[in-house]
Amino acid sequence: MGKIILTGDRPTGRLHLGHFVGSLRRRVELQNSGLFDKIFIMIADAQALTDNADNPEKIRQNIIEVALDYLSCGIDPAKSTIFIQSQVAELCELAFYYMNLVTVSRLQRNPTVKTEIQMRNFETSIPVGFFTYPISQASDITAFRATTVPAGEDQQPMIEQAREIVRRFNGIYGDTLVEPEILLPDNAACMRLPGTDGKAKMSKSLGNCIYLSDTSEEVRKRVMSMYTDPDHIRVEDPGKVEGNTVFTYLDAFCRPEHFAQYWPDYSSLDELKAHYMRGGLGDVKVKKFLYAILEELLTPIRERRKEWEKDIPAVFDILKRGSEAAREVAAGTLADVRRAMRIDYFDDAELIAEQSRKFQG
Ligand code: TRP
Repeated sequence: MGKIILTGDRPTGRLHLGHFVGSLRRRVELQNSGLFDKIFIMIADAQALTDNADNPEKIRQNIIEVALDYLSCGIDPAKSTIFIQSQVAELCELAFYYMNLVTVSRLQRNPTVKTEIQMRNFETSIPVGFFTYPISQASDITAFRATTVPAGEDQQPMIEQAREIVRRFNGIYGDTLVEPEILLPDNAACMRLPGTDGKAKMSKSLGNCIYLSDTSEEVRKRVMSMYTDPDHIRVEDPGKVEGNTVFTYLDAFCRPEHFAQYWPDYSSLDELKAHYMRGGLGDVKVKKFLYAILEELLTPIRERRKEWEKDIPAVFDILKRGSEAAREVAAGTLADVRRAMRIDYFDDAELIAEQSRKFQG
């Protein structure tokens, strides 16, 4: 049986560097590795609506932003199926059946749901759809028989929940669904890129993001105002690299060849860090180096985006064709699920014969 990827994002904003290191970069590598038979990348608009019911316009506007970010990062619609969740109605029906396999207390214990409820200050007014989104996410994954879900560590409880649903479904109804595995980012710094202010995560509301679609000047400003070591006041002061955002970003983006290209005074990141810790190395120099590296990364992304922006109808067409293809696959899984649950009454000749015999007694 082949290896299949399903992954996706909620379209609540443009994608940023945190998304890039946490998932996008890896997706493109996986796509081009040839190791996967099928790759599905989902714009999770229905999931985004679970906590944005009163603001559907935000989701509507960001579908195209996310699609443009995908395409400009190198997601290739000839190799990966990009689709919109709400256009695959089969996902809802799967979720409806999976709901019977999960307890309320199990959902309440889901760490991702727990933190997200706190983050959103829902307290006692949690929308049911939001509370149950791990179930809907299990449908997303299983509908495509995904073996592999590349995602950040925050998604681990979601995948675990999906695996439990699969095991329970297969246990009751017979082997039907595929148990997925999470594929975590491979570099520790990539697990979670902090915001430019040093806060744990990039978030639009904190204004600490570097977006893939930011201009060169916007990126420069963000880098130059990045949080470093507050005790590193004069150049000669020894500096700390742990918790220093500039160095965290270098851990995520710097490759040895960047030194030869942009800063031949050093030959490795370890050497640069050692100098910084000893003292005598100013923040501005390190920031300029980081800026050069980020620009090298972001320039081609920005240029590809510009090209796609000239033909928005073509982007919608990609999404439409992707959604149709996705729908076909999900419908196949749903048919198997219905058969396994024995709710495929009209296709069940045996049932009809058996019931006839019963009533003809
Ligand atoms: N929950 C994911 C996020 O917040 C988005 C998502 C929805 C997803 N369905 C998925 C990710 C299925 C992986 C697999 O970004």
